Amino acid sequence: MDSYSYKITGGKPLKGHINISGSKNAVLGILAASMMIDGTCTLENVPDISDVHVMVKICESIGAKIETELTPEGSVTLHIDPRGIDTYEATGPSVSKIRASYYLLGALLGRGGKASLRMPGGCDFGQRPIDLHLKAFRQMGAKGADFRNINGGIISLHADPLRGASIFLDIVSVGATINIMLAASKAQGKTTIVNAAKEPHIVDVANFLNSMGAKIKGAGTDTIKITGVDKLPGNFTYSIIPDQIEAGTYMIAAAVTNGDVTIHNIIPTHMDPLSSKMREMGYSIDEGDDYLRVYRDPEEPVWGTNVKTAPYPGFPTDLQPQTVVLLCLSEGQSKMDEDVWENRYQYIPELQRMGANISIFDHIALINGIDHFSSAQVKATDLRAGAALVCAALAADGTSYIDEARRIDRGYEKIVDKLRSLGADIEIAGSLNLYEDKEA
Ligand code: EPZ
Repeated sequence: MDSYSYKITGGKPLKGHINISGSKNAVLGILAASMMIDGTCTLENVPDISDVHVMVKICESIGAKIETELTPEGSVTLHIDPRGIDTYEATGPSVSKIRASYYLLGALLGRGGKASLRMPGGCDFGQRPIDLHLKAFRQMGAKGADFRNINGGIISLHADPLRGASIFLDIVSVGATINIMLAASKAQGKTTIVNAAKEPHIVDVANFLNSMGAKIKGAGTDTIKITGVDKLPGNFTYSIIPDQIEAGTYMIAAAVTNGDVTIHNIIPTHMDPLSSKMREMGYSIDEGDDYLRVYRDPEEPVWGTNVKTAPYPGFPTDLQPQTVVLLCLSEGQSKMDEDVWENRYQYIPELQRMGANISIFDHIALINGIDHFSSAQVKATDLRAGAALVCAALAADGTSYIDEARRIDRGYEKIVDKLRSLGADIEIAGSLNLYEDKEA
């Protein structure tokens, strides 16, 4: 079923326990990195989400062998053997389905000094340029695609040899940081990335590369140093870190339904930017070694606050839509300042259909608190916007439909099962997409 919807009857507090899955934004970079191994590897705690399915398909399209094992706990383990890779071209249609396919540029440049890739896709919130990636590869000796003109949507690069370089990122970029680490792992000499991104998934990809035999220091700080090596022997098992954004989404779902939920299999410090904001608003968050419990005193008000998105350890832009939903149900006026993406409020009209009182001024959203959301038929404009609408529907009285739900399944493993286990009334409705009827 291509365009299915989620049918959610809200108004029920979420209660109980759930486990968080592996990080989407770590595993996608790690899958690309594994294409450079001169051996095999096993990846554990892989989230069963459609972006991973697409990335596996792209890796198989260039000749890698990837066997998927479903563990008794229901998570996915991948057994990867890239030794059969027989091309450096990834130009099939799958490549433009996701943004992370561009990690194959760095991986294939590192593997064999050449790469040819169709332009990547991904959520549509503005330009999503890749100039920082291409400028860095050019500094490392790669010739071909110039960031000023990518011919016909195919990016072709070759480097003979690929050399280490000192690279300053004038914008903190997760993708560029990961892509440079990939290429630099096998470049001749040393590479330094200054003004590097520091997200948890950057550290996870670096740890994976070092497990492969790479020499990377400083991941998680502003400056990362990589010494290129000739071989990446591999032959190891690696477990993906928990997904910071999935965890934050369930924290917010618990909060907006006035529930009491314990979220397991997380790294609590990764949640600090959200936890501190939610405590400031009046929610209680108890922290354990690998879990958080989210609840509140119903007698106490929930106060609005101001949030500004920024690279980690700032407030994650990927929790911006979900947090706007949380702020809608708080007292007074709140402000969201989206400082990473230039157009990440496309979901606001959908929330306004549910009763949200929000005004947008460029990258600022002014949010006036409301008593409750009203159920409605809405559309997931992108992955995290869809997750935000799920939170709003869970909080609303009555039955809502969220169309284009496949966008949510790009990044949330078994979201229907997980929410049901917390008492939510949610089911998959066929391709009930009244939007099409409306346009008819
Ligand atoms: C990654 O995207 C994530 N995607 C995004 O998560 C996330 O929103 C983003 O990082 C920021 O944290 C994946 O990891 C697959 P960037 P990425 O390069 O790498 C500008 C989700 O919901 N920029 O850090 O594409 C860019 O326009 C997704 O899981 C350039 O100008 O983001 C943006 O303003 C959505 N030139 C800023 O940098 C470039 O060459 C940050 O982008 C690259 C980026």
